[in-house]
Amino acid sequence: MSGCPYSIASRMASTFSLFFSIFIVTFSPTLCLNQYHPLDPLTQSEFNQIKSIIQSSYPSQNLTFQYVGLDEPEKSTVLLWNSKSTAKSYPPRRASVVTRLNKQTHEIIVDLSTHSILSSKVHKGNGYPLLTVDEQTLANELPFNYQPFIQSIKRRGLNISQVVCSGFTVGWFGEGKTRRIIKINSFYTNGTVNLFVRPVEGITLVVDLDIMKIVQYSDRAVVPVPKGEGTEYRASKQKRPFGPRLNGASVLSGGEGFVLDGNIIRWANWVFHLGFDVRTGTIISQASIYDLDKKKYRRVLYRGFVSELFVPYMNPTADWYYKTFFDNGEFGFGQTTVSLEPLTDCPNNAKLIDAYYASQEGTPVKISNAICIFERHAGNILWRHTEVTIPDEVITEVRSEVTLVVRMIAVVGNYDYIIDWEFKPSGSIKLEV
Ligand SMILES: *[C@@H]1O[C@H](CO)[C@@H](O)[C@H](O)[C@H]1NC(C)=O
Ligand SMILES: *[C@@H]1O[C@H](CO)[C@@H](O)[C@H](O)[C@H]1NC(C)=O
Ligand SMILES: *[C@@H]1O[C@H](CO)[C@@H](O)[C@H](O)[C@H]1NC(C)=O
Repeated sequence: MSGCPYSIASRMASTFSLFFSIFIVTFSPTLCLNQYHPLDPLTQSEFNQIKSIIQSSYPSQNLTFQYVGLDEPEKSTVLLWNSKSTAKSYPPRRASVVTRLNKQTHEIIVDLSTHSILSSKVHKGNGYPLLTVDEQTLANELPFNYQPFIQSIKRRGLNISQVVCSGFTVGWFGEGKTRRIIKINSFYTNGTVNLFVRPVEGITLVVDLDIMKIVQYSDRAVVPVPKGEGTEYRASKQKRPFGPRLNGASVLSGGEGFVLDGNIIRWANWVFHLGFDVRTGTIISQASIYDLDKKKYRRVLYRGFVSELFVPYMNPTADWYYKTFFDNGEFGFGQTTVSLEPLTDCPNNAKLIDAYYASQEGTPVKISNAICIFERHAGNILWRHTEVTIPDEVITEVRSEVTLVVRMIAVVGNYDYIIDWEFKPSGSIKLEV
């Protein structure tokens, strides 16, 4: 990999960047098929390698992978790597892994180049790792084989086949917590898909995720389930005029307008690195803009991502008080990233790319079309001036604003978070959720 003759650094620092681009395109198009940057997200083969390293050190079948991500090198190391234009030695490639085994959380650093575990410690104190998709699925199925719950549903005159269960993290209110638990809530569909407006209140189901069992149950009160009528939200079931023109986002086509080089994106006067993590979703790194006056790239953002999204419901009742979700740290924006629908989630000039994360078993999971990148032609004006003061002369110049958007959508429970990073030629970056 170190034979790769160019990098973001050579483009940013060297006046020969044009030469390098031409060199690559013309003479060695296959030399850098897997261009490597120290902040690149873990690849499928790296996930598999990590799984095998961990499993040979912890041969228990009960070990679960709660988090697997890049253990990113220090900023100073990355900047030093950037500053060398040739003969680069890459910073060590490492992964940060959080596992659950024997009711303990293990924090492990894996070195991929030496195929070994660099450090491992048991987490002490408060806090539990990211939930996996698999354990949430298993937990949500438990109530349907649990007689007290089945009886509670019957007692309410509801049809169990129309009940849907969903697990929720429980927050922390100063109590000494010894078990990794979630609470399961149930909802009633029967004629609507808008199930979150029809909670079956009054029932508390607590699941211990480490043993995957219901460990606490109470049915306090029968609360009427709200009516399903009039709660349907699907366009196809509504009378509003959702014609094809309103459904499809369409812009002028004319190419993507940017270059994707490994995980580096070059567009207009911008260059940045695009990463992905199971917890945070998209990560923008080393965003720099070319300064025409200074004739060099200026660093704007070293690393940007949604670090957390806190959703406290602030309702003190028994069914609601604990709803204080960390949608990112507990449920994971990366693993809840959905496949984007071409032409509706993203315009027709978008490029869609896949992303990967590790499952509870440590194996790579692909999210097709996880991220889209597109030029936005919103019809805004970037700059204009009309000079009418000079006799016999009128000067008018208008420049339309074109921006570049990097989009992903995380779906946590019934929340769809559309996360856009928008790069503007003026040098500003707009993060929109
Ligand atoms: C794995 O988990 C199961 C179920 O909790 C338990 O019965 C078994 O003893 C565990 N195995 C090991 C090796 O810890
Ligand atoms: C389910 O919905 C149907 C149609 O709205 C209604 O007639 C029925 O009473 C509902 N059943 C239950 C058990 O809520
Ligand atoms: C309960 O719901 C299922 C699934 O929709 C349906 O087939 C069944 O007839 C319902 N049972 C009653 C008693 O309404």
